[in-house]
Parts: sequence; structure tokens; C-alpha cells
Amino acid sequence: MAGENKKITISVIKADIGSLAGHHKVHPDTMAAAARVLAEGKRKGLIIDFYVTHVGDDLQLIMTHRKGVDHPDIHGLAWDAFKKATEVAKDLGLYAAGQDLLSDAFSGNIRGMGPGVAEMEFTERKSDPIVVFMADKTEPGAFNLPIFRIFADPFNTAGLVIDPRLHEGFKFEIMDVYEGKIVTLNAPEELYDILALIGTTGRYVIKRVYRKSDDEIAAVVSTERLNLIAGRYVGKDDPVAIVRAQSGFPAVGEILEPFAFPHLVAGWMRGSHYGPLMPVSMRDAKCTRFDGPPRVVALGFQITKGRLIGPADLFDDPAFDEPRRLAQLITDYMRRHGPFMPHRLGPEEMEYTTLPEVLEKLKNRFKQVEQPAKKEPSTIVTKEAE
Ligand code: F6R
Ligand code: MG
Ligand code: MG
Repeated sequence: MAGENKKITISVIKADIGSLAGHHKVHPDTMAAAARVLAEGKRKGLIIDFYVTHVGDDLQLIMTHRKGVDHPDIHGLAWDAFKKATEVAKDLGLYAAGQDLLSDAFSGNIRGMGPGVAEMEFTERKSDPIVVFMADKTEPGAFNLPIFRIFADPFNTAGLVIDPRLHEGFKFEIMDVYEGKIVTLNAPEELYDILALIGTTGRYVIKRVYRKSDDEIAAVVSTERLNLIAGRYVGKDDPVAIVRAQSGFPAVGEILEPFAFPHLVAGWMRGSHYGPLMPVSMRDAKCTRFDGPPRVVALGFQITKGRLIGPADLFDDPAFDEPRRLAQLITDYMRRHGPFMPHRLGPEEMEYTTLPEVLEKLKNRFKQVEQPAKKEPSTIVTKEAE
């Protein structure tokens, strides 16, 4: 077959184009509308294969093709699929129809227009497993902890210690989503520098991971921050990630392992609360309690001559029952804080806030009783270099 030796590209592109019963779940008719557009793209030879799915209120398009990342035809196809799905969402009166499509006209690249994008290009191996993670009610930095553990933590990934093909470690491309800058750091040599950055999950986000020995792409995360793009609240940037598995990459079980710890992530109700990231099967890929708790699904595929074989619903397993139970306990615990930090996010990260209005209203009722502090608390240097 012509082109068989060319590299394969996996594109996972997602958007919230409206959902059923508030921000709860994607309607099947919108998925069908998107699938019809992708089926036409496949018939025309633009893409090799596709799988349309959802997590919570986010419509997910998983596509394979040979056009490379950031290709206008592929992004255009995804845009058309979201547009058609939005028409259906509007007709059905679904909630927040078209919310993530920030513009009316497509101009060649879907990045910066609302949808989240994770894409990677590689030469297909004889047998090539990948895992696609999709999360709802959280932000791209939610993947910092698990991706770090998969590719840099020997207590998570045995292969880093005992598999010669992983032993040299991985390179982390980290994005400052406020400045739009990228820095590449090596693990294990620069572990502490990596952690110094990615612990600030709202700002420094792992974008890509490469295997150090040969620069092979190992993982990619969507890093779009819709609220930063739009400059106003338009929903959380529920992230997606693609991770390559086995034969020189972490095993599928090593890739799933960090999700056995339901760590706290930003998002949840009104994009303004911390809550546990609960790993769920597709059956439970919909948010309810306090619009959450935030959840993540993992779909496993084999890529075979570009075809998507699968998926395997990887968190559909009693092995993840205890993490889910722990997530429920954490949910109860965090909820009891009500409107208090650290359940509620800090003022600079909240997606909804009445604080400016409250401050304005109370302006004349604040009485000066002490000299104001010389500096804003956030600018005070805690320990001077000696
Ligand atoms: C969070 C989310 C929901 C909404 C909440 C209020 O990402 O989508 O928690 O923020 O349901 O939604 P509106 O303002 O549309 O009533
Ligand atoms: Mg929504
Ligand atoms: Mg969502």
C-alpha cells in the first residue's frame, strides 16, 4: 500500500459544544453528527481512521492520518465536525451550545480557537499500543503529576530502573501557559528543576515527553487554556493526553498506576474548586456531584497500519475501585469546606468571582486602622540569598 512507510499521526481534538442537563454529558446525536463528518473525511482519504467519544460534557475526536501535527486539513475537519455537532446541539437546545468555539471562521489551525489539541507523529512499530486520557472538570496541569510519575518516578515505573531501553530517562517539554514559552528539561538529572516548575499546575504544564536515548515522542498533553485565550470565563480547559506504551516505553500498567492516587486538581464546580481526580470507566464518564468530582477515562488502542483497534476501557476494573472510594472520601472532606480555601481556588485562579463587585460595594465601609503593608504579600521575597 502506498504511503505505508510514512509516519502516522494521532490527533485527539476535543471541545465542549453543548451538553445534556447542564454541563453533565454529551448528547449522542451530537456525537453522531461529528462522526458523520469524520466518516466523510475517511471516505475521502483525509484520515485513516477515527473514534468519536466523550467524557462528561466534552466531545472527543480521536483521528489517525499521515499529514503530521497541526495540519490545516485535519484541524479543518475537526472544526467542521464541531460545527455540525453544534448545529444539532442548538436544535436540541442543549446547554451552552457552541461554548468552546470562540470564532465563527476557521483560519487554518484550530489551536487558539477554543478546542483542546493533543497530537503526535511517529513511525508505527510492529505492534503499537497507545493510551488516550481524557478528563472533565479540570485543567491541563492536572496531568503534570501522573505524567511526571510515569516518566520520571522509579517508584511508579519499574522500567526506569530495570529496562535498559528506559534507563536513560526522558526529556520534559514544559510550557509556561501565561507567557507561551517552552523549556526542555532532562530526567533524572534535572528532576528538582522539573518539579520546581510543574508543581505550579496552573502555570507550568507538561506539553510533551521524549525518550532521551533517541528523541522518540512518548507523550503529549493538550495545553490550551481557553480562559486565557478568550480573556473571560468560557469553561475549564478539560485536557486530553496521548501516551505511548510498551517495548521501550512505560508498560500500560505503569501508565495507569499514578491514577491509583486521586490527587487534587483544580476545576470542579464553576472551574473554581480543588477536588480529587477520579479514574472512571466510560460508563461513569459524566459529572454529577457538585458538577464533579473531576474525572478521567483511559482508552487503550493498538495502532495497526494507522487503524485504531479498540478501545479498551482501561479504568473499567475493580483494581481501581479503592482509588474511586478514596476519591469519594476526599470529595466529602473537601466539600465540607464549602466556600473556604483550599477547597475554593485562590482568587487569581477562580473562573467565576464576585470579589471585585463585593470590594467595590464595601469600598467606603473599609476603615484604615493601620499603615498599609509596603508590598503585596505575593511580591514579598521570603528568604534573601545570602
Ligand atoms: C465547570 C462547569 C460547571 C459550570 C456550572 C455553572 O467546568 O462547567 O461547573 O461552571 O455548572 O454553569 P453556568 O454558569 O453555565 O450556569
Ligand atoms: Mg459544559
Ligand atoms: Mg467539560
